[in-house]
Amino acid sequence: MELTTPTLVTAAYLVTALLFILAFAGLSKHETAKHGNYFGIAGMTVAIVSTIGLAIDRDGIEVIGYILAAMAVGALIGIWRARSVEMTGMPELIALLHSFVGAAAVLVAYNSFFEAEEDPAVKALYEALGTTGIHNGEVFLGVFIGAVTLTGSIVAFLKLSARMNSAPLVLPARHWLNLAAVVVSLGLMVWFVIDPHLLPLAIMTVIALAFGWHLVASIGGGDMPVVISMLNSYSGWAAAATGFLLNNNLLIVAGALVGSSGAYLSYIMCIGMNRSFISVIAGGFGVETGTVASDVDYGEHREVNAEGAAELLTDAHEVIITPGYGMAVAQAQYPVAELTRSLRERGVNVRFGIHPVAGRLPGHMNVLLAEAKVPYDIVLEMDEINDDFPQTDVVLVIGANDTVNPAAIDEPNSPIAGMPVLHVWESKNVIVFKRSMATGYAGVQNPLFFKENTQMLFGDAKDRVEDIVRAIQSSTAVGAGGDRVVRH
Ligand code: TAP
Repeated sequence: MELTTPTLVTAAYLVTALLFILAFAGLSKHETAKHGNYFGIAGMTVAIVSTIGLAIDRDGIEVIGYILAAMAVGALIGIWRARSVEMTGMPELIALLHSFVGAAAVLVAYNSFFEAEEDPAVKALYEALGTTGIHNGEVFLGVFIGAVTLTGSIVAFLKLSARMNSAPLVLPARHWLNLAAVVVSLGLMVWFVIDPHLLPLAIMTVIALAFGWHLVASIGGGDMPVVISMLNSYSGWAAAATGFLLNNNLLIVAGALVGSSGAYLSYIMCIGMNRSFISVIAGGFGVETGTVASDVDYGEHREVNAEGAAELLTDAHEVIITPGYGMAVAQAQYPVAELTRSLRERGVNVRFGIHPVAGRLPGHMNVLLAEAKVPYDIVLEMDEINDDFPQTDVVLVIGANDTVNPAAIDEPNSPIAGMPVLHVWESKNVIVFKRSMATGYAGVQNPLFFKENTQMLFGDAKDRVEDIVRAIQSSTAVGAGGDRVVRH
């Protein structure tokens, strides 16, 4: 007895596609993100069950053993990695996972090529349908997109995990090299579609692997976030290409959803970062590489201790917290949430200002703050809060650096020039939490640290925020005992 019918499979694919769309809709807001994940899980479950049913009908019940064994190995590795990965290691893990999608697309495309070459029945079928040329084109594009995604994602993984310098690689005539790779690949495609042989496919594979590597290696510092979402998009197109080769409509739909949403996210990020979309996807085309100004002398910096910071905060009416990558490293979101609660109980208006590329993942800070149960309505986007700094008494810069760097505005030669930043220096007092005077991700020194209204609070962000919470609590206790009057 057949487990599936074409109608049943089509219905299952439709339901899955709808669930995936609901998943994307849910993930677009933090209030509904959890539900978005549930829709995604449900969609993937329907997809897997219908695919197993199809495989059993086509190849017999004995395939179930292979499928379950492969799923068990994959699930074990996946569960182990998901449980062991630090939140700070998520971006590089995602980059690595994108490279697997690229590798899978290359392997499926090569398999499809060999199948058509070596199995006369398959070859005859394409000829009878008159789709040999289309199939060759699909194979070629599948390998090309997959290979670019594979090496591009590996470079992103190496850069994000600091195994490779995050500065852009600037080869002489780099844009001509990229253009040559595309033009030669187009020529090879024409050759391959007319006369499908391993030689043009293999030459293009080498070119596409080098092209993907170079494309991402030549993007540096501040533009990396856009590259990551671009690679997310490429992995979707690679999956869609695989769907065409396997004649699987659901894979085409799911791949197209990931591909187009990733491209749209990259576009939004480019607008947020004041970067040209085309120049970023073309490997930094038209962008001059700025000078790294880490050795410029900005003068002396001032320091404050936790007690001093606590006093400033309890005297304040308006406080803005701008978190960055260091908050994720220190896992400081829980004491930050506690500090927020304690200040709000004392009548201080505390809000958060989130830069679109703070941290190492789109939405990184929002996820951490939601995890620590910071109310959503006090977490504002950069554009919503940037005009409020002049009326702010204290800004706490917790492990942020590039995203609050005035050099982006004041220094036209800076590698981050033109990138919109949070104008924290316009407030009355700025307290910067970090461990040293080291630069941020883009490797650029930050003149904010040397401004007159800025004080540095050195040490691990979690420890220092906990110190401040303790200092506030003990000042409240003293106040309650009648020795000292606490405002608010
Ligand atoms: P960054 O510029 O990366 O600076 C983070 C700062 O946190 C560092 O200067 C570091 O200084 C401090 N820090 C690290 N560990 C700490 C700890 N345990 N306690 C206290 N401070 C700690 O941060 P940002 O402002 O969030 O900017 C993000 C950067 O990453 C941007 O350049 C962005 O383009 C890039 N990027 C973003 C993404 C996405 S999608 N968000 C993806 C890739 C790259 P010390 O070492 O002195 O402590």
